[in-house]
Amino acid sequence: MNDNYGRKINYLRVSLTDKCNLKCIYCMPAEENEKEFLKSNMSYEENCNIIKAAASIGIGKIRFTGGEPLLYKDIIKLIEFTSKISSIKDISITTNGMLLYDMAEELKRAGLKRVNISLDSLNPEKFKKITRGGDVNKVFESIEKCLSIGLEPVKINTVIMRGINDDEIDDFINLTKDNPISVRFIELMPIGEGRKIYKESFISSEEVLSRYSNLIPIETDKSSTAALYKLNGAKGNIGFITPMSCKFCSDCNRIRLTSAGTLKPCLHSETEISVKEYTDKDTIILDKIKEAIYKKPSEHKIIEEGKSNSKKMMYQVGG
Ligand code: 5AD
Ligand code: SF4
Repeated sequence: MNDNYGRKINYLRVSLTDKCNLKCIYCMPAEENEKEFLKSNMSYEENCNIIKAAASIGIGKIRFTGGEPLLYKDIIKLIEFTSKISSIKDISITTNGMLLYDMAEELKRAGLKRVNISLDSLNPEKFKKITRGGDVNKVFESIEKCLSIGLEPVKINTVIMRGINDDEIDDFINLTKDNPISVRFIELMPIGEGRKIYKESFISSEEVLSRYSNLIPIETDKSSTAALYKLNGAKGNIGFITPMSCKFCSDCNRIRLTSAGTLKPCLHSETEISVKEYTDKDTIILDKIKEAIYKKPSEHKIIEEGKSNSKKMMYQVGG
């Protein structure tokens, strides 16, 4: 279905839970009492009803996110359900990779097509600091597992932060030489915990790119949020995701379902449309999804306003 600006909306991102087994410094508060956790998330049936309705009006692509989506107890069942909807051609997840090694095969069998794995440092000590306790070796094992069973393409999401991990950009780029993976550098956004470190840590993709003259631009699909590059002869590629410095709003094709059961037309706007209480009423769900699509703003104002207007944290909306 098209929105008011002629954009074809065919992609739904579903945040399954606001819980996470890591506490990344730009996402999750360190203190338990600062978190705005929900008491309960959407049930399996509620999520199924929304996905089914969304598919009936042209959503052909679903991504499950969190928090950490692999903590959602019905994730396998939900992927199985989604993969049986014939018009849904693409099912992916965004995960931190902590639980992925053990679940990858089952996820693939259920119908998962591909994974995006968040990874902000290749150095065990630094990874532990950024994630406040994570084990980077688990992520490495998960990446290898996905490649070995053909859960591909594997995309790595790396939020680049000045003075924190910008000294590792070379190492991330070099990962793509021998591995068929896509490393995507993401600009830090002033949303949630990111607001606290944004000023001193934001670094634009343009600045990162200017340091590497050996990256060759490659053709990118219009609806892709990443501008792609590669090293000569490399198996993988490098993407730049620039939510801040160069907006991709005009090509935006997505709406979001939060773990609280609200539809969000735009990541950064305060507008939310509650669907949780209507999930057993098919016609109302459809109206709510259409409303979310019609309420999509032409673009976000995060640069002009210096902050996101989202009432939800990233761990409630998902990456
Ligand atoms: N800025 C940029 N990306 C963020 N994410 C979460 N918080 C932020 C932020 N403040 C994204 C990252 C991470 C995914 C789970 O959510 O891409 O990999
Ligand atoms: Fe968890 Fe992802 Fe947030 Fe890190 S960025 S705390 S892995 S939800």
